[in-house]
Amino acid sequence: MAQYEWTSTSADETMEFAERLGERLEEGDVCTLEGDLGAGKTTFTKGLGKGLGVKRTINSPTFTIIKEYQGRMPFYHMDVYRLEDSDEDLGFDEYFNGEGVCVVEWAHFIEEFLPEKRLAIQIAYKGDDERVISLDAHSDHFDQICKELAP
Ligand SMILES: Nc1ncnc2c1ncn2[C@@H]1O[C@H](COP(=O)(O)OP(=O)(O)O)[C@@H](O)[C@H]1O
Ligand SMILES: [Mg+2]
Repeated sequence: MAQYEWTSTSADETMEFAERLGERLEEGDVCTLEGDLGAGKTTFTKGLGKGLGVKRTINSPTFTIIKEYQGRMPFYHMDVYRLEDSDEDLGFDEYFNGEGVCVVEWAHFIEEFLPEKRLAIQIAYKGDDERVISLDAHSDHFDQICKELAP
């Protein structure tokens, strides 16, 4: 499906972009986030949570793998980095087919559990504050959202 690309020049800009995405997400939506350490995956997630109406501060869940927040719907923030080289299933199906929105940092480590319909987001480091954010829409629903966000 279509791919969209957008350049960010600050952490705030990334969060604002992610917030606009969060405002458009619906029940059962899954977004995957890829990018090196420090690329901005958690920064992006903070903005996305804001767009979903989450009031609590969103932090890196590295030591818990899955953190749950409440906005206008449940919001599950996963960082599956620690599942590298493991086939462990933490009940992903229930999250991905549930009534909330899921965001998965380092999603390729749980590739086998990911739903087909998802928005794949890649953040690439370009300089101190510059990042290129690529959106890969794997459904019509996400394609529509991408068109609105990055025309
Ligand atoms: N354009 C940008 N977008 C996102 N983060 C940025 C940007 N410019 C600088 N940063 C900084 O890069 C760091 C990204 O950290 P983080 O979001 O924790 O990355 P990750 O979760 O990918 O490891 C933060 O300190 C953030 O302030
Ligand atoms: Mg992170």
